[in-house]
Amino acid sequence: MDQFPGHFLWGGAVAANQCEGGWDEGGKGVDYASCCRTGLADLNVSPPRAEEYHPEREAIDFYHRYPEDIKLFAEMGFKVFRTSIHWTRIFPTGDELEPNEEGLAFYDRLFDELKKCGIEPLITISHYEIPFHLVEKYGSWRNRHLIDCFERYCKTIFMRYKDKVKYWLTFNEINNMRRNPSYVGGILLEPGENKQQAIFQASHHMFVANAKAVRLCREIIPDAKIGVMCSLSNIYPNNCDPVAVFETQDVRRRSLFFPDVMLRGYYPTYIYRMWKENDVHVKMEAGDLELIREYTNDFLAFSYYRTTTHEAGQPYFGDTGGDVGTPNPYLETSDWGWQIDPLGFRYTLNELWDRYQVPLFPVENGLGAHDVVENGKIHDPYRIDYLEKHLKALKEAVRDGVDIMGYAYWGPIDIVSAGTFEMEKRYGFIYVDKDNQGNGTLERIKKDSFEWYKHVIKTNGAEL
Ligand code: BG6
Repeated sequence: MDQFPGHFLWGGAVAANQCEGGWDEGGKGVDYASCCRTGLADLNVSPPRAEEYHPEREAIDFYHRYPEDIKLFAEMGFKVFRTSIHWTRIFPTGDELEPNEEGLAFYDRLFDELKKCGIEPLITISHYEIPFHLVEKYGSWRNRHLIDCFERYCKTIFMRYKDKVKYWLTFNEINNMRRNPSYVGGILLEPGENKQQAIFQASHHMFVANAKAVRLCREIIPDAKIGVMCSLSNIYPNNCDPVAVFETQDVRRRSLFFPDVMLRGYYPTYIYRMWKENDVHVKMEAGDLELIREYTNDFLAFSYYRTTTHEAGQPYFGDTGGDVGTPNPYLETSDWGWQIDPLGFRYTLNELWDRYQVPLFPVENGLGAHDVVENGKIHDPYRIDYLEKHLKALKEAVRDGVDIMGYAYWGPIDIVSAGTFEMEKRYGFIYVDKDNQGNGTLERIKKDSFEWYKHVIKTNGAEL
């Protein structure tokens, strides 16, 4: 294959909590992201603090402005648009037996609008948006009860949207459970709690929930595809010290552990030693392992933003972009310190294809940068440059024989940053007039990159 296939799904990706706003409208309940998530520095701070400014609560008001925004995506020629369903619009506390009709109707309208514009929805079922009630009352995914809540939620949305949505993802960046369990799984650690125990117990429940979602999806929407979604920005050894090389394999494997389970269908043997050394005892019920084995996902979706390097003995650490190690002297760095590595993108696509042999879908890749409005225009050659280099790398991976379903650029319209809560960390091809303090008209303005990406899609990536 020398070119992108004809059915290649070009598009963009966002998450409900970062763009919708309308945080208490339409019967919506309180979600974890917009009530209490704090910066990565203090991941485990819990209670809602109403006096603080929470940018997600209004975000870019996609909840009301989606028709205008979708029109712009259609103008760029999007074939796919990834967003998430805000769980608390459907089940306000997560514990109800009956869904909230107003919330369901909102996504009906949104998906209809996408269809009208010829854009396929790709839907994340849980993107850091767990109902706060489930966190407070049950300790979130530590508790098996969450599996039932999630299953009910999945059944509801599969039944409702079975004719409208054919591409699904269960948990956004599930492998960030190892780094940021509070974001991904609403896990707020108790003082003195064994963190690894909490992470792996919660992850087991999420694996079972994922398998049940796959089963439901096959039953209710047999022609749909349901993927795993992981954060897979990469990490290299900083030098040829075998200790650095071995530890780099170890840190990478801690990420790959999640797709290992969900795509291969069993716990890999290396995890048992890790559990033993960390005094982890995962409680499982009869039938759990069979479910995980039988209901594996159809494809691997992932985010790739950058790479970093690992030195021997360096502690493992990460943020929303991936692992954080020692800077690489061969790479340029973004305004937010993320190192730009297009060849690493091709490397990662090959690595994942070699390991799993299932279709891959990069559903997050992009550049967060400061943009300046000059006479009503935004010139963003840095974003075009990032995109061009990554798309060339993507094309090379197609030529390498990697099976790639599509490409969804992260944040095609400016949204609230998940890691820093800023508006000024802008990824978009479309500028949104709003600053970090919440000031602005919310007007949308096309940046130079808008036309550039439009041309890429028009030529199906032939002209890059
Ligand atoms: C990913 C998340 O980790 O990175 C997104 O899935 C997030 O929700 C994206 O927005 C970029 O991170 P940030 O911190 O720049 O918003």
